[in-house]
Amino acid sequence: MENSAPPVIVGITGASGSVMAATTVERLLSMDVPVVVTASAAARLVWREEMEESFGAALERWTDEGRFAYYSFGELNAPIASGTFPTRGMAIVPCSMATAAAIAHGLADNLLRRAADVCLKERRPMVIVPREAPLSAIHLDNLASLAHLGVTVLPPNPPFYLKPATIDDTVSFTVERTLVALGISSELPIGMVYRGPRDAD
Ligand SMILES: Cc1cc2nc3c(=O)[nH]c(=O)nc-3n(C[C@H](O)[C@H](O)[C@H](O)COP(=O)(O)O)c2cc1C
Repeated sequence: MENSAPPVIVGITGASGSVMAATTVERLLSMDVPVVVTASAAARLVWREEMEESFGAALERWTDEGRFAYYSFGELNAPIASGTFPTRGMAIVPCSMATAAAIAHGLADNLLRRAADVCLKERRPMVIVPREAPLSAIHLDNLASLAHLGVTVLPPNPPFYLKPATIDDTVSFTVERTLVALGISSELPIGMVYRGPRDAD
């Protein structure tokens, strides 16, 4: 990784919404923010269902940018498994209910979950973008536990009040909100800010 500024960790799990992971990584790289990605086994399965480009091809493209590193979920000796390795925090996008449950209960049994456990214990910014519907009481309890620990729980809901025209609009909105929650951006782009009621027609 050429840029020596601390990276943001992007954890990709097997919830639906691989495009949100890709857009988050690409937006960070476009801002010159170093990125470390780790992905669960299920994330790769879902990616295959949802994306045109293979996960491997996306990794190659991101690696070519030079501020990018990838570790598979079994690499528990990766730098992001230790609190001594500095990072700017972690986004888990999309976040499955399985991973939300594991993190809420301290189960650090793969690299993604361990990296999240480290962010919590080191009190670094963490954002999760949970995707499931409907939500059971188990899901809600686990998400509430994470919120109480300071995690930003950011469901990828469309901002209906901004009249999104496409799924991409909603994805971009979620990604920009993620960057603000991590402290990477100071504010949302102008078109994503609600300015109060419109004049009556
Ligand atoms: C096509 C597909 C879509 C899925 N979508 C979701 C989802 O939106 N939310 C969720 O919590 N799990 C979803 N799952 C199930 C998870 O992949 C499964 O619970 C897995 O064990 C999660 O593991 P991980 O958290 O390590 O990625 C989906 C699975 C598949 C194959």
